[in-house]
Amino acid sequence: MIEVKGITKTFGDFKAVNELSFSAQQGEVIGMLGENGAGKTTTLRMIATVLKPTKGEILVGGKNVVHNPEAVRKQIGILFGGETGLYDRLTARENIAYFGKLYGLDNALIKQRTESLANRFDMTRYLDKRVGGFSKGMKQKTAIARSLVHDPSVVLFDEPTSGLDITSANVIRQLIGEFKEEGRTVIFSSHIMSEVERLCDRVVIIHRGTLQYNGTLETLYQQNQTKDLDRIFMEMVGAGR
Ligand SMILES: Nc1ncnc2c1ncn2[C@@H]1O[C@H](COP(=O)(O)OP(=O)(O)OP(=O)(O)O)[C@@H](O)[C@H]1O
Ligand SMILES: [Mg+2]
Repeated sequence: MIEVKGITKTFGDFKAVNELSFSAQQGEVIGMLGENGAGKTTTLRMIATVLKPTKGEILVGGKNVVHNPEAVRKQIGILFGGETGLYDRLTARENIAYFGKLYGLDNALIKQRTESLANRFDMTRYLDKRVGGFSKGMKQKTAIARSLVHDPSVVLFDEPTSGLDITSANVIRQLIGEFKEEGRTVIFSSHIMSEVERLCDRVVIIHRGTLQYNGTLETLYQQNQTKDLDRIFMEMVGAGR
């Protein structure tokens, strides 16, 4: 479903991502771990066609992200940490519809999908209110609904629960579980070990742009003879290494 083959991304003479390879099958949930600056967001941006790899190749559903970005974008839903990219002056519904139109959906389908997503995320109360007055969690739900309006088979979530309260974070964790049941492929980055342990089939650990581990948690635990993911992570990429 997603094949990342030997990608490198340089900014000037700095290598943010270095010869990174991993893949994700349909219905698989991959957790991406790495310290601040490890290259997680850069990698997700390259898969999302937002940044071009300096070297290497990425295929999503067999389509090359550089040669066929339109076809890739139709298959993926993206949520990037920090700014949600929502328009404050538009309502949640209008923000979602705007994206739906970009994906070429007709108005009836946009309305139907928007309302079903609003129900699913319990956001009907504020669906027709302007995003400018929303809390962080409300904005995040709106951004997630927007990322799903075209029913993507691949979901890329960059630190989706960062800064959210326990309830909102759990809504998103539950959602990732549901994506899997629906057969979507998910790659998400996180700094929360328990979240990765709970949700992921496989983890990809990156340190300074270089792959440190790509495999199941069980194998990682076996190799390290402990189930303490915090400790394994610190030993693998810990400060100063
Ligand atoms: N547009 C850019 N220009 C120059 N350097 C960049 C750019 N984007 C990212 N970098 C650098 O690339 C490295 C990887 O950044 P990236 O945002 O991918 O890390 P990250 O793993 O997502 O970190 P965090 O956990 O803090 O979100 C960092 O050193 C960052 O400063
Ligand atoms: Mg990041």
